[in-house]
Amino acid sequence: MWTMSDDVTAVPGGPPRRTVLAGGGAACAAAVLGACAPTAEPARDASALAGRELAKAADVPVGGGTINSALKVVVTQPARGEFKAFDSTCTHQGCQTDRVADGLVECPCHKSAFAIADGSVKKGPAKAPLKEYPVRLDGDAIVGA
Ligand code: FES
Repeated sequence: MWTMSDDVTAVPGGPPRRTVLAGGGAACAAAVLGACAPTAEPARDASALAGRELAKAADVPVGGGTINSALKVVVTQPARGEFKAFDSTCTHQGCQTDRVADGLVECPCHKSAFAIADGSVKKGPAKAPLKEYPVRLDGDAIVGA
């Protein structure tokens, strides 16, 4: 039997329904006179990833990228030897991006897409870019800087 305490995901890859409802309610309460629209949680501080291995360089294709689901980071290589890292949390409503293809990081929930070079929005409904994290190459690994 389903109860309100069940952990139900509202959208595949997205936050649990309770999180969406709770977050939406808080946003609505705060926006007494404005429109009520759910927003993604703010991305974490870069220091949370400092010194942590985000990906092996060999696993990041030139012109593409790879998603580290455990750390919620997408690591890209827009040009040979140029590595970037972005928070994999979509800035629209907080789903996890799940695919890197054709130079874009894609969100499955509402099909937003972000550039692998700078995280900028290439296709909405997201309006804000993915948060970028500083990285460095350490041997064969891409590490948070
Ligand atoms: S959460 Fe809506 S496009 Fe990503």
